[in-house]
Amino acid sequence: MARHINIHTHPQEALEVASSILGDGYPVAIPTETVYGLAADATNPAAITRIYETKGRPRFNPLICHMSDLEMAQRYARFDDLSLALAKAFWPGPLTIVLPLKDNSGIHPLATAGLETVGIRVPQGFAGELIKTFDRPLAAPSANSSGKISPTSASHVEDDLGEKIKLVLDAGSAGVGVESTIVKVEEDGSLRLLRPGGLASQDIERVAGKKLLRSRTASPAIEAPGMLASHYAPGASVRLQATSVDAGEALISFGDIAPLPGQDKAKTILNLSLSGDLAEAATNLFGYLKLADSSGAASIAVTAIPQHGLGEAINDRLARAAAPRS
Ligand code: TXA
Ligand code: MG
Repeated sequence: MARHINIHTHPQEALEVASSILGDGYPVAIPTETVYGLAADATNPAAITRIYETKGRPRFNPLICHMSDLEMAQRYARFDDLSLALAKAFWPGPLTIVLPLKDNSGIHPLATAGLETVGIRVPQGFAGELIKTFDRPLAAPSANSSGKISPTSASHVEDDLGEKIKLVLDAGSAGVGVESTIVKVEEDGSLRLLRPGGLASQDIERVAGKKLLRSRTASPAIEAPGMLASHYAPGASVRLQATSVDAGEALISFGDIAPLPGQDKAKTILNLSLSGDLAEAATNLFGYLKLADSSGAASIAVTAIPQHGLGEAINDRLARAAAPRS
């Protein structure tokens, strides 16, 4: 098992031990407001290689580089006016902006999978402090085995990767619960949504003063290589838009809805948000998928979730969890 340090009770120790392990070129699991990340020095090729190996992640899938603030981000990437406005409005927070890398930025090509762009995010809270102390960008995908559900607690990380990593920093449950929203300003000035996430599209559109363009193709793989169709996959199969429950299924519902036919025979019943709050549902989503999975059900039935606000990210993750497995 990995060493665990609680960042609330032992903040200084957490900063020192994490900085030391990062400095030696090893990954550390860190809390962010979205999900737990597996962080390593983005300028160190050995450290980045260890991220890919620990996760079993394909190397053509670039990593998000986390910065302590906008000023640090500007040392590594070039900002157009719109990206700058979005950064000022939403950082620190659950927004990743894909930007052109500066020449000789120092970010290793293994972190960006050789692209000329880099996805940058400034996380809230402790992760930002750690980056400030470490004074180098941290490449950090979600701290889970590739293709599995992202972790929203230190114990999720431990269950999946505890044998493979040295340190997990524990900050309790991740508040947002789904990964950051990823956007990119195209050369013609249009704004593209590469991945819906913890910042609602409508909030971005309000600041940008324009609509987000969705992916051109049915397969977002071309835009964000990591967005493979089957992802966030629990062991059980996932059935969406459920209006009834088959015997032995687990049920994940949303809102104060009437009991579904067959739900008395469900293995377990979980409600993402009884009051119909999409932010609460996002916070609970990955943990409830794991709970439903561990109930022993072979299938998880999920009721309809509205598509507005954080519903877009929730439905995106559920669609990937339900996608045919390769
Ligand atoms: O909330 C989050 O974003 C979390 C926390 C830890 O910060 N991180 C996260 O990382 O979700 P990951 O590796 O699971 O997802 C990163 C996504 C992938 O889909 C990848 O393809 C895309 O970001 N990405 C990274 N750099 C990119 C680039 N230069 N161009 C296009 N997509 C990029
Ligand atoms: Mg991930």
